[in-house]
Amino acid sequence: MKKHLEVRNLTKIFDMHILNNKKIIAFENINFTLNRGKFLGISGKSGYGKSSLIRCIYRNYDSTSGDILLFDNNGESVNLAKISDPEMLIIREKRMGYVSQFFTPLPRVTTMNLVIEPLIDKGWLKDDAIQRASELFKLFDIPGNLWDAYPSTFSGGEKQRINLMKTLIDCPEILLLDEPTASLDARNRGIILEIVKELKKQNITMLGIFHDQMEMETLADEILAIKRPGEYHDETHSADIEVKQEAKKEFIFQL
Ligand SMILES: Nc1ncnc2c1ncn2[C@@H]1O[C@H](COP(=O)(O)OP(=O)(O)OP(=O)(O)O)[C@@H](O)[C@H]1O
Ligand SMILES: [Mg+2]
Repeated sequence: MKKHLEVRNLTKIFDMHILNNKKIIAFENINFTLNRGKFLGISGKSGYGKSSLIRCIYRNYDSTSGDILLFDNNGESVNLAKISDPEMLIIREKRMGYVSQFFTPLPRVTTMNLVIEPLIDKGWLKDDAIQRASELFKLFDIPGNLWDAYPSTFSGGEKQRINLMKTLIDCPEILLLDEPTASLDARNRGIILEIVKELKKQNITMLGIFHDQMEMETLADEILAIKRPGEYHDETHSADIEVKQEAKKEFIFQL
């Protein structure tokens, strides 16, 4: 079992300069290890720092302290909390995907062009890229009349399927999912879940927040439950993170 991502003592504190330097602790002292091909679900009440944790890993937010180690197949690691922005951009391009609840595609870019863009950037021939995208469109149940339309006008479910396709066409090794099924109807939720299951079969490592506990239980190999948010001025507060485990699920956390 190969280690893929290790988060050590990770803390994120927002410094609100416009609010008299009030500090908001998004999360504190998070520790976990995620092995290759596994799915780690993150649970916890609203405001407990789940999205902020994912954003720190993807480096939309800088973490305040701690380490985020991303391992390659040879066991070498880079610390995503410490590398430069250009280095992080390369990691995003080559190794890491991020899918959030909200996807706002650029206006006047067609579905096809949006989806093949990462392949064209990598030097694929346009015809080959279109062939690959067409296979995915079928798998994702995107009807033919939408391929050359603009996703900015699509329904929430269609947008989210395109969003996942864009991420997947260039298969990242590790995928971060922040409530990708939120606000979708049952049918679209079902399709997204099937896609995520398919990705698991392809051994893509995933870290995901799913609002629906049943969805989370279905997908996750392990669940990191963030129990309490940090509270400013609370001397007694300490990180309180619990790892849940179903009997059949593997237990790999180092707390
Ligand atoms: N950009 C930001 N600036 C200031 N505070 C922020 C920012 N982003 C998040 N926070 C704060 O950090 C805390 C954690 O927020 P976060 O969005 O990570 O929670 P969450 O667990 O994802 O909640 P939800 O389940 O509602 O999505 C909240 O108190 C939030 O107000
Ligand atoms: Mg959130």
